[in-house]
Amino acid sequence: MNPALTKIGAQMSNLSGVRAIMKDVIETLEASKGKDLINLSAGNPLILPEVEQLWRDCTAQLLASPDYGEVVCRYGSSQGYAPLIEAIVKDFNRRYELNLSARNILLTPGSQSLYFYAANAFGGYTSNGELKQIILPLSPDYTGYGGVCLVPEALIAYKPTLDIDASSHRFKYRPDFSQLAITENTGCVIFSRPCNPTGNVLTDDEVNKIALMAKPHDVPVFIDSAYAPPFPALNFTDMTPKFGGNIVHCMSLSKAGLPGERIGIAIGDERVIEVLQSFQTNMCIHPSRYGQAIAAYAIDSGALVEISKTVIRPFYQNKFTVLESTLDSAMPDSLPWFLHRGEGAIFAWLWLQNLPITDWEFYQRLKEVGVIVVPGSTFFPGLNQEWEHKQQCFRISLTGSDQEITIAMEQLAQVAQTVYQDR
Ligand SMILES: Cc1ncc(COP(=O)(O)O)c(C=O)c1O
Repeated sequence: MNPALTKIGAQMSNLSGVRAIMKDVIETLEASKGKDLINLSAGNPLILPEVEQLWRDCTAQLLASPDYGEVVCRYGSSQGYAPLIEAIVKDFNRRYELNLSARNILLTPGSQSLYFYAANAFGGYTSNGELKQIILPLSPDYTGYGGVCLVPEALIAYKPTLDIDASSHRFKYRPDFSQLAITENTGCVIFSRPCNPTGNVLTDDEVNKIALMAKPHDVPVFIDSAYAPPFPALNFTDMTPKFGGNIVHCMSLSKAGLPGERIGIAIGDERVIEVLQSFQTNMCIHPSRYGQAIAAYAIDSGALVEISKTVIRPFYQNKFTVLESTLDSAMPDSLPWFLHRGEGAIFAWLWLQNLPITDWEFYQRLKEVGVIVVPGSTFFPGLNQEWEHKQQCFRISLTGSDQEITIAMEQLAQVAQTVYQDR
């Protein structure tokens, strides 16, 4: 069958951004069965035994509880499962001295869906034909923001400034406030903190400044905290989660060991939450309740926060250390290579300045020596202007073993040397 597609149908069925690369990765892995490929492309977290055990224990608790039937055999509220909402309100009010009520919370089937609701409720055309923009203040950012918007022209990303430490081969992106425009034409602002793909953590001052710019226009600012504290606590630098006013603090349990259960959490102004909740009711009625029920136990007991600090964070932070120390010893000092400061998330981000070939070509060269990383150009959704930097970066997942990461970075250093020499 070849049914005609609508404009939205064509757009949503397109393989865009990182999904196109992942198709190539899967085909490469299938074609090279038996060969030892080191795959550092995945965004899928590893299964950590202590974390799996936590979810098993919470599941056993649910099975033994009289609530089981109520959880899985009945529909519930489209706002989410009440005991999980209560656990979040209680924990966050105590931990961050907030004054939240249940009306400030929405639970969604994964946080990706939350950005889909937000992008389309606040971005796109208003009923009188004005285009409301979705602003990504610091590009590169999460590639998934590229796919959530039904009106692609609404998505606008801003080029960053680069804070470069040449002698140590490190750099950090910063928002370019001289360019960033948040106006009456802005529908919403979205950014990840810590950032996928770069591991950047916007400073408290930078976040406050963005929220303040958006406030006079009543623009909600969605802070994608998929890697932030208190869970999964994948920040390797101090950071304070931000709440209140026009900020919607958005979380995910995916990097806290529960990606299969699809749990997203939004904490924000009641009116914004109501809009998102209606969107959710129309779309899927409510998220699955089994995952929400076990999450309620893990948050209420404090076990999730504890395991995030003592197991999840040190595990990935150590992987980053392995990666950066290997690059420091394997990459020649004479090459213009720059690793983004590893402030959080489960990725490293490498910039090869003045790379003589494109990121896609370099990715192919790496595949030839058995290493797979993700070419960086897919991580600039909404940044339409030409910028050579977009073809000079790579996202390297921290989900390999220490040995795999070491070998892969040594191989990468060799390929880089050859490529720059052949210039
Ligand atoms: C920054 C960021 N936001 C959102 C998501 C989507 O997560 P979820 O599984 O909650 O839909 C991801 C997934 O990798 C991510 O990295």
